[in-house]
Amino acid sequence: MIEQYSEGAVPDYQMAAMAMAIYFRDMDGSEIAELTAAIVDSGETIDLSAITGTKVDKHSTGGVGDKTTLIVGPLVAAAGIPVAKMSGRGLGHTGGTIDKLEAIRGFETELAKDRFIRNVNEVKLAVAAQSGNLTPADKKLYGLRDVTATVDSIPLIASSVMSKKIASGADAIVLDVKTGSGAFMKTLEGARRLAENMVAIGQRLGRETVAVISDMSEPLGYEVGNANEVREAVDVLRGRGEERLTEVCLTLASHMAVCARQFNGFEEARAHMQHMLDSGQALESFRKFVKAQNGEASFIDDPAQLPQAAYPIDVCANTGGYVEGIDAEAVGVAAMMLGAGRRTKEDVIDRSVGITLKKKIGDRVDKGECIAVLHANDANPEESREKLMKAIHIGSGRVAPPPIVHEIVR
Ligand code: URA
Repeated sequence: MIEQYSEGAVPDYQMAAMAMAIYFRDMDGSEIAELTAAIVDSGETIDLSAITGTKVDKHSTGGVGDKTTLIVGPLVAAAGIPVAKMSGRGLGHTGGTIDKLEAIRGFETELAKDRFIRNVNEVKLAVAAQSGNLTPADKKLYGLRDVTATVDSIPLIASSVMSKKIASGADAIVLDVKTGSGAFMKTLEGARRLAENMVAIGQRLGRETVAVISDMSEPLGYEVGNANEVREAVDVLRGRGEERLTEVCLTLASHMAVCARQFNGFEEARAHMQHMLDSGQALESFRKFVKAQNGEASFIDDPAQLPQAAYPIDVCANTGGYVEGIDAEAVGVAAMMLGAGRRTKEDVIDRSVGITLKKKIGDRVDKGECIAVLHANDANPEESREKLMKAIHIGSGRVAPPPIVHEIVR
């Protein structure tokens, strides 16, 4: 069916009926794996055999302030493990790694295949924009799902994500499945089912796959927006990052290292990743990666060289208390309104704008205190300011933030 759908022999109305049937009836493990394999076969696959060592990919199901690739990639590469990563651009309230990297002056994300492979062999890390004709059936089916209300189906999401990972050629895959207000899966139970399905697909199709279920009930870290997130990634690589963001990055990197069979278990890998961070080797690996893709690396020591918005605008609390919740999706939308993200695929984004959160869940706030800064190129971004104010809930009771890593699914 997928083959004939790709060729146009199965029309959209039949495929829409099929998607709706899957939406209501679910699929069993072997059906999901067959569907995934058929989507992989609909297009090209990337051959990474010219890269020495076990290639481990990482994929996040998306969220707000998710700059983990910029941190995890250098951590893993510093340990000598090759990371050959294809990444996407952002749409809606979630950002894309390629957009973030393009905030770095000169940084090239369109890499020819031989350069991509050479960079991975030489500096152990390359991140390139998806190119070529990978999984065309997924693009076609996703477009159809979007207009037939069948996006929100675990077998369809799992096969869509895994087909792209498998076509990208990695030997092993570490998935970062987000749960919470800024994530596709709002509940832990939904995230767990998605993770289990994706891990099972990997197993059936011969790629070792591990999923980390991590928290997205508030934005990840303090920064949202492209240049903002690059700046925060450097802070983490300097060992000065927010604790929860640092923790999830170390966890993901350690699972990638274990999948690459370089360590005797998670604890050993975790200790090594901590050493990569503390010794500055991960930061050096980031510098080499930026230079290898023609980026000007001087911003690493002088963040003021990153694009800067014209107006830093303080957003102040109109009541005192404790931060009880931050609607991550609404913060993502507020950043998009400033120009940091795209409403439609055709929108042009502004890499200098974004939001700095000054408070996170559990923090105390005094009335009138600054809780966030909008970095805007419009002197009066009222729509965005209002959205952000509504996203940050201040109450009288102290709330503990949820754990950053909920579960590991193998
Ligand atoms: N992301 C994807 O790549 N596919 C889906 O179906 C949903 C989210």
